[in-house]
Amino acid sequence: MREDFLWGGATAANQCEGGFDQGGRGLGTVDVIPWGENRFPVMLGDMDYKDLNEDSYFPGRDAIDMFHTYKEDIALFAEMGFKCYRFSFSWSRIFPTGEEEKPNEEGLKFYEDFIDELLKYNIEPVITICHFDVPLALVEKYGSWKSRKLIDCYVAYCDAIFRRFKDKVKYWITFNEINILLHLPFMGAGIQFKEGENKTQVKYQAAHNELVASAKATKLAHEINPDFKVGCMLAAGNFYPYSCNPEDVFEAMNRDRDNYFFIDVQARGEYPAYAKKMFEREGIVLETEEEDFIVLKENTVDYITFSYYASRCASTDQEIIQKSTAGNVMASIKNPYLKASEWGWQIDPLGIRITLNSLFDRYQKPLFIVENGLGAIDKEEADGSVIDDYRIEYLKEHIKAMIDAVDEDGVDLLGYTPWGCIDLVSASTGEMSKRYGFIYVDKDDAGKGTLKRSRKKSFDWYKNVIATNGKAL
Ligand code: BG6
Repeated sequence: MREDFLWGGATAANQCEGGFDQGGRGLGTVDVIPWGENRFPVMLGDMDYKDLNEDSYFPGRDAIDMFHTYKEDIALFAEMGFKCYRFSFSWSRIFPTGEEEKPNEEGLKFYEDFIDELLKYNIEPVITICHFDVPLALVEKYGSWKSRKLIDCYVAYCDAIFRRFKDKVKYWITFNEINILLHLPFMGAGIQFKEGENKTQVKYQAAHNELVASAKATKLAHEINPDFKVGCMLAAGNFYPYSCNPEDVFEAMNRDRDNYFFIDVQARGEYPAYAKKMFEREGIVLETEEEDFIVLKENTVDYITFSYYASRCASTDQEIIQKSTAGNVMASIKNPYLKASEWGWQIDPLGIRITLNSLFDRYQKPLFIVENGLGAIDKEEADGSVIDDYRIEYLKEHIKAMIDAVDEDGVDLLGYTPWGCIDLVSASTGEMSKRYGFIYVDKDDAGKGTLKRSRKKSFDWYKNVIATNGKAL
């Protein structure tokens, strides 16, 4: 492993920052995604958040209150020896309605102090510009990413943060898990469907607008500071054919392409042939401008980041599809060779090596694993400790496979930031009890708790992994 390998951890504003009504912040999509049975209909864009009961609970609004605790939290990251920390800015903290002429100074100052705190410990900030949250005013006014107007708003937001943090930040990621907009359109991109709308058309229009925005942001970033590194981000995890029936192999290839589509554009600079053909078949006609294709072509990303939690399976056999569907955000078939987490996410360490190799073969650009981890229920012992051997086991096996991909296969890998290095609100379920952290946070699913932070067993284990550059696992 390279000596400057970026070991660290990852979180996002929408799931840990809180302070939703403080510091001049405007409302964002995350603030209207409820906990409970209405969560999925809202995240899918099928239910309007305005139709929710008044007493709905929105876990993202206060989350783990990092808005107030970031100094204490960063000190714990530093104690683990983090070389980098991936986190996101809340767009509506900087542009409360998305369209102000000038950014909210209080918001910028908050992130400046936050970054300075990281730099104090020599922790490299890795910033996701948009991690699942759009200013709500832009949803109301323009239908969010359905409209090209969002491209300008996003670029103005990028302009403000690139200039402000020109000398403090190097690594940027334009959109978190950009492909999730196909699966959870409101959570991923603020998309709500109107009756009678062609959902596929709407989703790919939003995708096009985000892709153009990402390329324009990349261009701007390089103009402002040629040393900036701008990356894209994929919710990864290869689809395996359920059997060696060529029909299954073909199906798995196509399911992978649904996800690769985004990165193909961001890394290679043009729409892949298979996507153009799919648009023709589905009757999708995108609203585009000639200049879009030039911007896409000329501004590909510098590196490719991805999340990896699980691999997936695809089959064409209806009986198999119906009998064994695994509980994932991205529909998948249960793999009989793998165990699964308590939430049904299939545990496949070799899959991270397969994914690393597939992405590196396809794009030949540096990679960065910016999310990986096990969501699990932790039990606090009487003395307050948490013995999370299952988490250590999961991470150990994945890190081993990651190191093999680098040392044995030659993949160019910049870093590794396990997800939710401090417990935070789950994106898919809104739960606190789906915990990923090395640091325990005392808060439950209903929002009760002292918010006290404490070190789990995995805290010392990961500290040692970093100190030995992955040798002691
Ligand atoms: C990724 C997201 O999908 O996976 C994170 O980028 C998310 O925001 C993480 O939290 C884990 O998923 P979940 O649903 O367990 O929180």
